[in-house]
Amino acid sequence: MGYVQIFDTTLRDGEQSPGINLSVEEKVDVARQLARLKVDVIEAGFPITSEGDFESVSRIAAEVKGPTIAGLARVYTEDIERAWEAVKWAERPRIHTFVGTSDLHIEHQMRSNRDEVLKWARQGVELSKSLSPEVEFSPMDATRTDIGYLAEVVAAAVEAGADVINVADTVGYTTPVEFARFLTELQERVPELRERILSVHCHDDLGMAVANSLAGVEVGARQIEVAVNGIGERAGNASLEEVVMALKTRGDFYGTEVGVDTRQLANTSRLVSNLTGYEVPPNKAVVGRNAFLHESGIHQDGVLKDRRTFEIMTKEDIGVEGSNIFLGKHSGRHALKEALGELGYTLEGDVLKRAFRRFKEIADTKKTVTAADLEAIAADEVGSF
Ligand code: KIV
Ligand code: ZN
Repeated sequence: MGYVQIFDTTLRDGEQSPGINLSVEEKVDVARQLARLKVDVIEAGFPITSEGDFESVSRIAAEVKGPTIAGLARVYTEDIERAWEAVKWAERPRIHTFVGTSDLHIEHQMRSNRDEVLKWARQGVELSKSLSPEVEFSPMDATRTDIGYLAEVVAAAVEAGADVINVADTVGYTTPVEFARFLTELQERVPELRERILSVHCHDDLGMAVANSLAGVEVGARQIEVAVNGIGERAGNASLEEVVMALKTRGDFYGTEVGVDTRQLANTSRLVSNLTGYEVPPNKAVVGRNAFLHESGIHQDGVLKDRRTFEIMTKEDIGVEGSNIFLGKHSGRHALKEALGELGYTLEGDVLKRAFRRFKEIADTKKTVTAADLEAIAADEVGSF
């Protein structure tokens, strides 16, 4: 079984979401929770960007034990030195340095050329490695980079000492099959990459960040970069909870292991949502309010007999509390009987039939049937019996 490292970038790429601005204290709280969740790497921030980012990365490095703590830096000397000043307090520090490698980025953003960028990449990794025991290098916009040039840059970064090569689908442009072929070709062109950790960093512009990340795992990626609730630049990053549960639930298919304590997923999602103000949609996979709720009669009946009929994971796996039966207009008599039972009422036969008719009348007019509605029905029916 191959171990897949979970690299969390909620505090860096996630915090780059429009409107999110966490205080230092809030970032430290999130990092502590990520350590409880047992992610392998926390990208705590981008120290050169502000005093606040520098302080939060330094505090997390000094105070949060367990995961590797990474700080982001462009390939420039001042960025790398600043990142090191912040992460050096960690038990396991990592400098994560990056540069754009597509012609679009090289010519139109950096106004430079391929030779110069190749030189910067090599120098940036060399400097990082002279400071930090662990170094990650990311070619930004890798999936829109000419593969021959990308291979040259990656080979240079590996030679200069990069421990992790992170292939970034910066604008969420690739597709799962294309990405798998691209990564396979990159590994063929740079065989030394097999002695390093291949990582993937996927954005969700076309809604394929999780699928692309998993396609990476199929062809040898052993680190996935994710953010809690999928937050991040524009449409966000691959969602931590979806990637982790896909690898856990379909470990049989991927042949991989992850170290995350999934029972902390619900807590972590809630904390990040509360602090960032980014609400989790009710139908969001894994951590949405409805992810373990069954409403239709057929589903409820199946789940009450054996949960595996309509559930591939359990709410206990995620740390979700409460019932997984939602009483609404599609619910059946079994679910009603069960819910009444939880309130202490045992209704059978004609009494249950009458209670069910009244329940349907209420459910037709209200979005949710509450415990108070059930109490009222049960009290009337039991009384009239
Ligand atoms: O999306 C991206 O390319 C990034 C890099 C810094 C890895 O966030
Ligand atoms: Zn990104």
